Amino acid sequence: MNVDFSNSCFLRSSNVLAHVNRLNWRAEVLIARAPDAVRGKRILDLASHDGRFAYAALQCGAKSVVGVEAREAHVASAYGNLRTFPEFDGRYEFIESDLVTFLSNTPAHAFDTILCFGIFSHLIEQVEVLREVRRIQPEFFILDCWVAREALNVLERWRNIRVNSIVAVLQQGKATVDSIPLRLMRLVSELRNPRIYKTGKLVFLYEDAQANGATIRESGLMAWANGSLIEMLLDHFAFDCKEIDWLDQSVVDWSDLWDYKTGDRKSWIAQPKNLIRSTRGGVPRAPHQQ
Ligand SMILES: C[S@@+](CC[C@H](N)C(=O)[O-])C[C@H]1O[C@@H](n2cnc3c(N)ncnc32)[C@H](O)[C@@H]1O
Repeated sequence: MNVDFSNSCFLRSSNVLAHVNRLNWRAEVLIARAPDAVRGKRILDLASHDGRFAYAALQCGAKSVVGVEAREAHVASAYGNLRTFPEFDGRYEFIESDLVTFLSNTPAHAFDTILCFGIFSHLIEQVEVLREVRRIQPEFFILDCWVAREALNVLERWRNIRVNSIVAVLQQGKATVDSIPLRLMRLVSELRNPRIYKTGKLVFLYEDAQANGATIRESGLMAWANGSLIEMLLDHFAFDCKEIDWLDQSVVDWSDLWDYKTGDRKSWIAQPKNLIRSTRGGVPRAPHQQ
């Protein structure tokens, strides 16, 4: 292991799944095995909590880390923890802020790599966050979060096919609405190839906002995206993305990593696709940034 949390201060400063084996493997798979995204890079760690992954990134050679964390007590723990590693002095900062606000005030190119670990499913601003990350244009965006279950959504897809077929006649000059057998055939071919035709899902749920790892929104409202939605949004905002296959990481001890093993939690590494120069001149824009 490149980062070892055994007996570390991070086991005492948090009760949010602060288990040695879990932290070690998350640091290994999400950070140590992405050296191009970490070594010598300026990193932004969203929801930095007690500084656990800021520490891991510095340990793996990050140039600097800025952590953003909404809870004052966690910011204090992060500083307390990182001060015990004098070798990292001057290379980290923790800012008490709502990450959504922070992102919207961050200039483009301010960071090389943005980490978004364990927070995406505690937000309701998933689209906004990805839009802002794209605008900031880091070289790498690493996302790790709980995901909602996939669903075939057969009836929704059927309705979508029907509506598209009607729109093609009314708005695009097509001669006739597709027959029911034709629509059924399209539905079946889409269902047989869910990789091509994904159905994104955002499930809104409540959690107790008083918990240390929870949303900071008083209502406790949060939203779980399914993996398809995450990939659809990354594609929409012009990222190339690759899911990190946890089952292919040679994890030797799965204790406290049950969610990665079952697929209830997933991770991706994404990079902005090449930018297209705006015809209005000046500002580079991604294909679908609206
Ligand atoms: C489940 S913990 C994840 C910590 C760490 N990133 C990890 O993956 O282990 C979520 C953290 O996000 C913080 N948080 C929740 N909502 C936030 C928001 N809107 N902006 C910044 N931090 C937030 C919580 O205080 C908590 O420290």
